[in-house]
Amino acid sequence: ALQAANAAVDAMNWPELTRAVAECRACPLCQQRKQAVLGVGDLNPDWLFIGEGPGADEDVQGEPFVGQAGKLLDNMLAALNIARGNKVYIGNAVKCRPPGNRTPEAAEMAACRPYLERQIALLKPKIIVLLGKAAVHSLLHDDKALGTMRGKRFEYAGIPVVVTYHPAYLLRNLPEKAKAWEDLLFARRLLRDQAVP
Ligand code: URA
Repeated sequence: ALQAANAAVDAMNWPELTRAVAECRACPLCQQRKQAVLGVGDLNPDWLFIGEGPGADEDVQGEPFVGQAGKLLDNMLAALNIARGNKVYIGNAVKCRPPGNRTPEAAEMAACRPYLERQIALLKPKIIVLLGKAAVHSLLHDDKALGTMRGKRFEYAGIPVVVTYHPAYLLRNLPEKAKAWEDLLFARRLLRDQAVP
């Protein structure tokens, strides 16, 4: 079936999930990948950032957001005084590189979704930031224009979710960076609101 076997994935611990993703053949993206890219960071994070899928650099290095978009993401994290591995986990809607970096198809995101959902269940982040339309589609099943979803508090499994622009989009539309920064400050407020006084 064109989906990672849900019930099995739901029972996996982290090492099992890591192995299952590395060996996954649930959709055709497995045919051209160099490797699957599960994610990187703190396994007990406050923040979970979810992008679209690995690009060429990520496919080679096995880590999300290591190219140009990743540098911008790292700068945004630094401005928040956090970093990948320090209260932050970074993952993607799909774990295998779509050929030519095309947008993942809905069926590919659906095939990969059980892994993303299991990651979230095991990581238990306190805030989720969705980077761009593909992540929004995958987690919230919503296809509205991203600009209409910013600044709102969504929820997934009881965890607050915030939507912002994908860093690769920001690199092409630099003035929009101010909006992404607003979104991150909004996310930080939702995170801090949960702190026990
Ligand atoms: N873009 C993404 O969406 N994810 C990556 O890991 C790299 C670039």
